[in-house]
Amino acid sequence: MNKDRKLIIAGNWKMNKTVAEALDLVNGLKRELANVKEVDIVVCPPFTALSEVSKAILDSNIRLGAQNMSEHAVGAYTGEIAAVMLKEFSVRYVILGHSERRQYQKESNDLIARKALAAHAAALKPIICIGETLQEREAGRTEAVLEEQLTGSLAGLSPEQMEETILAYEPVWAIGTGRNATSEQAQAAHAFIRRWLSTKFGDTVARRVRIQYGGSVKPSNARELMSQPDVDGALVGGASLEVRSFSDIVKNSI
Ligand code: PGA
Repeated sequence: MNKDRKLIIAGNWKMNKTVAEALDLVNGLKRELANVKEVDIVVCPPFTALSEVSKAILDSNIRLGAQNMSEHAVGAYTGEIAAVMLKEFSVRYVILGHSERRQYQKESNDLIARKALAAHAAALKPIICIGETLQEREAGRTEAVLEEQLTGSLAGLSPEQMEETILAYEPVWAIGTGRNATSEQAQAAHAFIRRWLSTKFGDTVARRVRIQYGGSVKPSNARELMSQPDVDGALVGGASLEVRSFSDIVKNSI
């Protein structure tokens, strides 16, 4: 595939996998994906498995991501995890503002923007999730919602930080439902996001930012989705929990 942006495919394991299960999965992925150089491959285990998964992927082509982090650097924030703590396990990426956190933890665009700045301050690359609900899409509000989320969640980022940020377009109605966006719907949203980036950060930055698609990505739809000109990878939930399906998604995307 001939895109100047390298594809980045990340597995969001959500609240799944004990340490033993996480090691089984990641060791399987290491075997299956050892020869893949064309794609940045990232796994995002739960916090409790970061330490062991980090050791297991040393000397492999698999990189580590976390699913969330605190906006604060240190201090009295019971139950929170700081960026420096993630760095101890060689975490490179952190998912921020996933729709499940926006919905269940009431995370706001403001909070996500503060977390993104904290991530950059620690040299972690944020994967910032945005996407409309079914109700918003049916009301013709998709672009307005994306614009509001982009404006809010990326507030305060410098152009240099923006280039080191990954965006994930994840229509809420496609997450965990088996109903993925069509490649046309994904491409239209990604092109809108890139135009917005171009207006705010300039053409060069907009051309460099990688935009993942997320929402019911499977081995059977990965190739078509990834072949869209503005789709630069995938954020995969359910299908990232098995060696076969995640490695087939990666292989089918090349
Ligand atoms: P899904 O989840 O692949 O299970 O739809 C995607 C996500 O939530 O990132």
